[in-house]
Amino acid sequence: MGLTVPSLAGKVSCTGMGGSGVVCEVVKAFYPLRTDDPDVLIAVSYSGNTWETVERAKQAMSQGIRVVAVTSGGELSKLTREVILVKQGNQPRYSFPYLFLPVVKMLRPDLIPEVVSGVDNARAVEVAKELLDFIGGRIPVFYGSKYLGVAKRFKQEINENAKYPAFFGEIPEVNHNEVESYTHGEGIAPIVLVGSEIDQVTAELINAFVLKVTGMRDVSFLIQVAGFLSVELAKKLGEDPSKLTKIPEGKRLAQ
Ligand code: PA5
Repeated sequence: MGLTVPSLAGKVSCTGMGGSGVVCEVVKAFYPLRTDDPDVLIAVSYSGNTWETVERAKQAMSQGIRVVAVTSGGELSKLTREVILVKQGNQPRYSFPYLFLPVVKMLRPDLIPEVVSGVDNARAVEVAKELLDFIGGRIPVFYGSKYLGVAKRFKQEINENAKYPAFFGEIPEVNHNEVESYTHGEGIAPIVLVGSEIDQVTAELINAFVLKVTGMRDVSFLIQVAGFLSVELAKKLGEDPSKLTKIPEGKRLAQ
C-alpha cells in the first residue's frame, strides 16, 4: 500500500463522530487506545468540519498534544501540519475504508494484509441476505465485547442508509440486565459478534444470530456485510441510502 502515514510514538487517543468516529471504535479491538492523557490524538472527520471533533483537536493542541488529522479537508485540515488527506466528494460512511486504512497503518501496519484479504463482495452479500431474513420486520440489536466497534458500525449503517432503528449493546454489561428483557423480546432481532466465550454465552442466552470474529480479516469482511445489509434493507423499505435529512439539519442547528 503506497499510503504514507506519520509514525506515532507514546500514548495514542482517537476521536471522531458518527461514520468517522466508528473508525476509532473498530481499531480499539487491535490497539489499546487511551481515553485520557495522550501524547498523540488522531482526529478523524471526513468533512473536517464536525464541530465536536474540531473542538477536541483544538483543545488537544492547546495542551501541547500532537494532533494527526485524517480528513478530506475542512477546518481540521488547517489546524495541524500532520494531515492525512483522503479522497473528497463522498459521504462519510462510504469513506470508511479510506479513513480506516491510514489509522490501521499508523497503529498496526502488520494488519493491513488482513484488512485487504477480508474483502469478499459475493460472500458479504450472502451473509447480508441471511441477516436480512433473520431480522424480518424486527428491530436489530448488535452485541459485542472486543468487537463492539463492529456492532456499532452495523447500527450506524442501518440507521443512516435504511433510516431504520438499530441499536448496539456491550457484553458483558448486557448479561447483567438486557438479557432478561428477551422474555418479551419478540420485536427484537439479536445479533452477536462472537469473538470470545463470553460472547457465545450471551448469544445462547438470547438465541441470537451469531457472527464469528477471530481477527482483522473478519472485521474487514463484516464491515462490508454491514454496508450490504443496510442497503438491502433500504431497498426493502423504499429508502434512498444516500439521502440524509435529520443529520444535516442537526449539524445546521448545532452551529
Ligand atoms: O455518516 C455520516 O454521514 C455521519 O455519521 C458523519 O460521519 C458524522 O456526522 C460526522 O461527520 P464527519 O464524518 O464529516 O466528521
